[in-house]
Amino acid sequence: MNNKGEPLNFDLQTQSLIKQLTGANTLLNSTISDVKQADPHRISYYEELMKKIGQVRGRPLYYPYIGSGRGNGPFVELEDGSVKLDFINGIGIHILGHSHPEVIQASLYGALQDVTNQGNLQPNKEYFYMLQKLVELAKKGSKIEHGWLATCGTMANETALKIARQKKTPARMIISFKNAFAGRSTMMAEVTDNPAYRVGLPEYNEVLRLPWYDKKNPTSIEDTLRALKLHVEKHSNNISVFSFEPMLGEGGYMPAPREFFIPLLEFCKSQNIPIWSDEVQTFTRTGQPFAFQTLEIGEYIDIVTVAKTAQIGATLYTSAMNPQPGLIAGTFSGSSSALNAGLAILNFLDNNHFYGPEGRVSEIHNYFISGLNKLAQTSCKNLISDATGMGLMIAFTPKDGKKETVEALLKTFFSKGLIAFSCGKEPVRIRFLIPAIVTNQQLDLALKIIEESLLKE
Ligand SMILES: Cc1ncc(COP(=O)(O)O)c(C=O)c1O
Repeated sequence: MNNKGEPLNFDLQTQSLIKQLTGANTLLNSTISDVKQADPHRISYYEELMKKIGQVRGRPLYYPYIGSGRGNGPFVELEDGSVKLDFINGIGIHILGHSHPEVIQASLYGALQDVTNQGNLQPNKEYFYMLQKLVELAKKGSKIEHGWLATCGTMANETALKIARQKKTPARMIISFKNAFAGRSTMMAEVTDNPAYRVGLPEYNEVLRLPWYDKKNPTSIEDTLRALKLHVEKHSNNISVFSFEPMLGEGGYMPAPREFFIPLLEFCKSQNIPIWSDEVQTFTRTGQPFAFQTLEIGEYIDIVTVAKTAQIGATLYTSAMNPQPGLIAGTFSGSSSALNAGLAILNFLDNNHFYGPEGRVSEIHNYFISGLNKLAQTSCKNLISDATGMGLMIAFTPKDGKKETVEALLKTFFSKGLIAFSCGKEPVRIRFLIPAIVTNQQLDLALKIIEESLLKE
């Protein structure tokens, strides 16, 4: 696909066949339109499948979830014949839900490329169009000029850190937030503030923590700025980067206002500390393509990382941050289908009124948050608190916010047909990555399952 979503190098007959195939697939999946319990004839087969998967993984799946490969919008069919309302979407990969015709069609074009995977040495044109698209989107309101593809968010983050460290060589230290999440490589597990994710690993002690915004603390903004200044004073000339998620993601879906970021970013600029916004999860979800645009802090950004929605990872940066040859490379830059599908998704979001204060992302946010708040004030009093988030990323704290409470509730959601997930530590929260194509009726269905589950537990 090129930037306009037009197929590259395909004759009319192939184009027509792909159109027919996409249409047939859409029709086939159109029967999947509501939650459904498992087919009784498939239950023992499914249980056996779960057992075997558990054996081969060395541990069971979190949910008894194996997709059948079919779905429709926010609905996904599982191998046991059940249909679930998917409000987590592969933790943010399927922003257009399941079997979206634009995504299927783009993937089919990708599948007909001469190569399954593209690389940095011998890319096809999708590689170029994808990078160009990401840079074009990021340019709005920032000084981003270049980009580099990776195969996941963690690798995009590794590239970001290497770029920043090379610029600030020999500085080692990384400033990050308490409860941050950055991925699971050796280094990103260190940037991630969750000891449970690095049990038994050596400590490198290269990360300095800042308190995240606390709306209940009137001096939160000054407190964090003070902590930043203390770190910089103590580690002068040894700070390689200031890294942050524009909304605390895995750490609890806690947003922070622009006024929180500005003094921190101003101070980093004054100290010549590179600023890296990790948008692996927020990208396309907050009402603008980038959360730095939603928060209007783009002028400060030196590096930004994305993945999930894009179907591949990418590190985007300003000219001043462009690294020296040799620092970044790698065999893979993404599968041809993923590159094409990612581009189709970004074009679809651009062209269908999703962004902006009046856009669909904002509508979905307001509708779902007010639905949760209504439950909190009526049938689910004391069972729901702190419904908050940004755009399509929404979470609430159920009951006492204890891990066991949340896990039990998530399993009840699942058995009733809603897929969500947890985030945060104290409290543990229930989060949703809502697909952008959801209807209000489907949001109501999710709210109904949430209500029934909370009242049952
Ligand atoms: C903010 C953030 N950074 C990095 C990552 C890691 O991305 P991946 O799982 O694609 O490696 C995630 C994943 O959830 C994330 O939310």
